[in-house]
Amino acid sequence: MELPLSHLILFCLLLFTTGRVSPEYTRPGPRPLISRQHNGSESDPQQVHISLAGKDHMRITWVTSDKKVQSRVEYGKSPGKYDGAAGGESTSYQYFLYRSGKIHHVKIGPLEPSTTYYYSCGGHGPEFSFRTPPGSFPVEFTVAGDLGQTEWTASTLAHIGSKDYDVLLLPGDLSYADAQQPLWDSFGRLVQPYASTRPWMVTQGNHELEAFPIIYPHGFEAYNARWQMPHQESRSTSNLYYSFDVTGAHIIMLGSYADFDSSSDQYGWLKADLSSIDRKVTPWVFVLIHAPWYSSNLAHKGEGESMRKAMEKMLYDARVDVVFAGHVHAYERFTRVFDNKVDQCGPMHVTIGDGGNREGLAMLFESPCPSISVYREPSFGHGRLRVVNASHAHWSWHRNNDNDSVVADGIWLESFASSAACKDVTNLLSKSPNDEL
Ligand SMILES: [Fe+2]
Repeated sequence: MELPLSHLILFCLLLFTTGRVSPEYTRPGPRPLISRQHNGSESDPQQVHISLAGKDHMRITWVTSDKKVQSRVEYGKSPGKYDGAAGGESTSYQYFLYRSGKIHHVKIGPLEPSTTYYYSCGGHGPEFSFRTPPGSFPVEFTVAGDLGQTEWTASTLAHIGSKDYDVLLLPGDLSYADAQQPLWDSFGRLVQPYASTRPWMVTQGNHELEAFPIIYPHGFEAYNARWQMPHQESRSTSNLYYSFDVTGAHIIMLGSYADFDSSSDQYGWLKADLSSIDRKVTPWVFVLIHAPWYSSNLAHKGEGESMRKAMEKMLYDARVDVVFAGHVHAYERFTRVFDNKVDQCGPMHVTIGDGGNREGLAMLFESPCPSISVYREPSFGHGRLRVVNASHAHWSWHRNNDNDSVVADGIWLESFASSAACKDVTNLLSKSPNDEL
């Protein structure tokens, strides 16, 4: 078969620009959307997901078509035996002609660590269960960005679910509904088997914005109503940026699409949040954003640059260990970096926007590969961050090789809290500056 000239040129271009990749892997294209319908009654819960909501608490979120269903969760440590119960709140929203169902948010707790809880939503439908994160190391995070709801998404989710973990982190771009509101419902149903069993902590991407002049000028109508994150619990005034602690890690979710200049609320909140970290309690600090501050991909080039210029110094001074980003539909890991240069006291940056969305992969990278970029590959997949103890964690990236999940990249990390080389600033963040970290 003879290839057209344009295909040959594209092939050669890819060969020279995809950097360090696996030559044996033939990269497939986008795959079709998956549509998930609700098969239960109008009062049965659908789109169930859970999220951490302050110390020892979990927020249970679900949707019902029936507006009379109460926002109430019963829960307990044995199936069908509920010795705990809590009431919560509900919301709904309208987006042009679309009216959402009743969106319930109920906070339950206090909960014990490493414990499986069984729960019932609104007194209807099936029982669900989740496991709380551990009270001490080790703890394992999965990280997947730009998820969407395609057959690739299903592949990524299956790989995530095939191996145990404690908390999922999502650096933006969830449903790719892009104003087609029923797709938010379909996405909620697609992720329910995973998001109802482990906490899903998300931040917003550009596909969550859904702004429209005059009518929805601020955007995020669906995102804020459906994916309520613990911003009040972390003294943030916006659902678009917040922080939380899990098992010795302080995790900061920043908003790439909220104001971030030095006079902004987000900037002031971040400054206060960073200064409140006690590295003896949470020796690890991770940050998630959507638009990457470092990327050698040709897609979305420079879109995170103004945020980097505004906030990078703050993260550097606070000795943030890793920054995860999405947006670019490929995987890329950088070395420790600050202000575009290798810096052993700067965070490692990782782009992991390859969850499986409908737009496909960002295939083209800059050539030559910048020296600060360690590994880059345009393939779908997900990441795992296993924090072993206060000093060491292992990061790995798992490519979707069709139905198989293959570890293609990995690195051991040493925390700044345990590192002598960059101790000066971490001491500033300690509650007791004279103590050893
Ligand atoms: Fe994006």
